[in-house]
Amino acid sequence: MDISRTQTAQLVGHRSRVNFTRFEAGARTMEEEVLAGLRSSPKRIPSKYLYDAEGSRLFDRICDLPDYYPTRTETAILKEHARTILDLIGPDLCIIEPGAGACGKGRLLLETRRASAFVPLDISTDFLQGAALDVADNFPHVSVHAVAMDFLTGLDSLKPLLPPAAKRLIFYAGSSIGNFDPPDAASLLGRFHALLDEGDGLLIGYDLQKDRDALTRAYDDSEGVTASFNLNLLARFNRELGADFDLSRFRHVAVYNEAKSRIEMHLESIAAQRVRVGKESVAFDAFERMHTESSYKYTVEGFDAMAAASGFRRLEVWMDPASYFAVGLYVKDGAGGSPSLLTGHGMKSVKALTVASGGRQA
Ligand SMILES: C[S@@+](CC[C@H](N)C(=O)[O-])C[C@H]1O[C@@H](n2cnc3c(N)ncnc32)[C@H](O)[C@@H]1O
Repeated sequence: MDISRTQTAQLVGHRSRVNFTRFEAGARTMEEEVLAGLRSSPKRIPSKYLYDAEGSRLFDRICDLPDYYPTRTETAILKEHARTILDLIGPDLCIIEPGAGACGKGRLLLETRRASAFVPLDISTDFLQGAALDVADNFPHVSVHAVAMDFLTGLDSLKPLLPPAAKRLIFYAGSSIGNFDPPDAASLLGRFHALLDEGDGLLIGYDLQKDRDALTRAYDDSEGVTASFNLNLLARFNRELGADFDLSRFRHVAVYNEAKSRIEMHLESIAAQRVRVGKESVAFDAFERMHTESSYKYTVEGFDAMAAASGFRRLEVWMDPASYFAVGLYVKDGAGGSPSLLTGHGMKSVKALTVASGGRQA
């Protein structure tokens, strides 16, 4: 995408440290992508459309649910290890956070005072803007460059816009990498790799394989917030595409597909019906499902192999005592930073893997 097609808005007053950029990628429109997904068999909607302002707000509520273990588990890991993690990469960091959402986890990294710049990226423009302003208010020592973008189409053009810093760290939290089928996840890691220089880091949170009950409860919570989050897709299409989905005629379904090690979220039509979306009339059979999100569950070894294939070498991995969730720190291979980064900490990472494989915290 051409950078000249981006708009940059400098925000005012004491918030002038926030630079807000909107990338308008020349990719397909939401209507084109949604209709293409509804024409496919089985029907499928790109999960990024779950996040308009209302979807982001609902996702924030999900993060606080007792049934939704990923957020509190990853947060606990970061609270305990943020300082160690960032010391492995070095001071004067530019932290780039794709899919930053409310920036809650990014803030845990900023609290260590190892970063001079923070670049949160998100497709949910208004939500991102509010979160970025809040970060700037609370971290006056950090220059904040928020970028509203679809990182699936715009990431390659980001590099020239990044603020100067000694090192870059891409922080991809929330097990968001699990939303991609393995080839697409590997390709996204490849694009992260291209954004970095040798010795820069990738800190990534991913969800681990565990028993089916814990998984399905997390994606089909007893309070029905995840159901509202999923159904908001249809409300969004009604609002933005002039669709006429009747939300009472679809239901939220979450299933664990063991063969693929992934949770699948679907919206199921409770009866045969036709729905108008844009200029098209879309037919649904009774009990037909639209696949709206996948959430792949990894092993540490499997994730390391995928990262290695994209040019990343793991320095260390941290897990919770129950081995529910992992946060891995990788370095872009090549120069790999200072010799101490490669020898001392590299050896420690091997130890961390051994301990963690036994189901204990590294
Ligand atoms: C699962 S939430 C994680 C939020 C936050 N990082 C956390 O850990 O709590 C995924 C986030 O990625 C954003 N997102 C999803 N697809 C995106 C895309 N293609 N481009 C940019 N942001 C995207 C969503 O708006 C949302 O804020």
